[in-house]
Amino acid sequence: MSTPQPSDKFTFGLWTVGWQGVDPFGSAIRPALDPVVAVERLAELGAYGVTFHDDDLFPFGSDVATRQAAIDRFRAALDRTGMHVPMVTTNLFSHPIFKDGAFTSNRREVRRFALAKVMRNMDLAAELGAKVYVFWGGREGAEMDAAKDVRDALARYKEGMDLLCQYAIDKGYDLKFAIEPKPNEPRGDILLPTVGHALAFINELEHPEMVGLNPEVGHEQMAGLNFVHAIAQALWHGKLFHIDLNGQRGIKYDQDFIFGHGDLMSAFFLVDLLESSGYAGMRHFDYKPMRTEDIDGVWTSAAANMRTYLLLKERALAFRADPEVQAAMRASGLDSLATPTLAPGETYADLPSVYDVDVDAIAAQGYGYVHLQQLALEHLLDAR
Ligand code: GCO
Ligand code: MN
Ligand code: MN
Repeated sequence: MSTPQPSDKFTFGLWTVGWQGVDPFGSAIRPALDPVVAVERLAELGAYGVTFHDDDLFPFGSDVATRQAAIDRFRAALDRTGMHVPMVTTNLFSHPIFKDGAFTSNRREVRRFALAKVMRNMDLAAELGAKVYVFWGGREGAEMDAAKDVRDALARYKEGMDLLCQYAIDKGYDLKFAIEPKPNEPRGDILLPTVGHALAFINELEHPEMVGLNPEVGHEQMAGLNFVHAIAQALWHGKLFHIDLNGQRGIKYDQDFIFGHGDLMSAFFLVDLLESSGYAGMRHFDYKPMRTEDIDGVWTSAAANMRTYLLLKERALAFRADPEVQAAMRASGLDSLATPTLAPGETYADLPSVYDVDVDAIAAQGYGYVHLQQLALEHLLDAR
């Protein structure tokens, strides 16, 4: 079970295994990786597909012939290996033109260029059969509050998303959009910093039904938030269109560690949630192979992401199937929480008088959560 298969729907960004290790303090430590090699190696490892930003496949500013040649080579590799492209996104952050953002730059000509860049890449996404188009607004934000009117910036963000939804509709593309929240980095403060902010924003759009989320493990955890709760809420709203799996250890820079190499207990409950909720989307890894690794280490890290997911899935299924866990869940009231507070036909008039409730007796009862959590930990450790 811990050998990845395409049916597991594991996907990787070309920019992940292709990361050359450039960070604010150092230059590249690995040579550039040919996207064709990435497709071939990931296929051998059991992945289902790859995803990319336009600029991962052909350099920014490529002429028409260069762009097409890169697409043709990439396509041939997909056809040879049977790999899919379920998601595509746009690089709206690397080129200096995007230094103050793309859809929310204070300069109108930047905003117009950004939208045109996205539309051109949506054409390619549709051509390659992608079903999800991701928007990570890494440069949409500010360092200085005097510099950005956030209400106007959100209005321009909405204008951009509405325009792009209309473009997809007019072209007849079978594409849904997924916003990826992040609190900071590269901007001091990024707009739509968390899952909650993005969910609220989506409700203001012209076509909210076309727009959902691509939450990333580390991004919520950078804000000190509970990623499992964020995913549960996204699922509850019907908005989990895609997910970026990786690892993060606490409130610090965006670590993009291998999945499971951050908060392992949270990763266990995340896999448990994804697998028990019927989530049918991609299991997409957005991580950075450590800077200490050579190219062999890159493939080791790619395999580690998938193997860890499958191991956690195995443990999560065993956890759910354990009769002692099921009894502990009942004792802890999980089935009661799933039951409406009023019985069918009841109204607020049927609630007890506050004077009739034996509050002391109810308050004296424990919930047994420690026992349940320890059972989970022991399943995670394969100790049961
Ligand atoms: C990050 C982000 C990015 C985006 C990707 C898609 O780690 O800050 O996750 O990696 O997901 O660029 O646009
Ligand atoms: Mn990240
Ligand atoms: Mn991401």
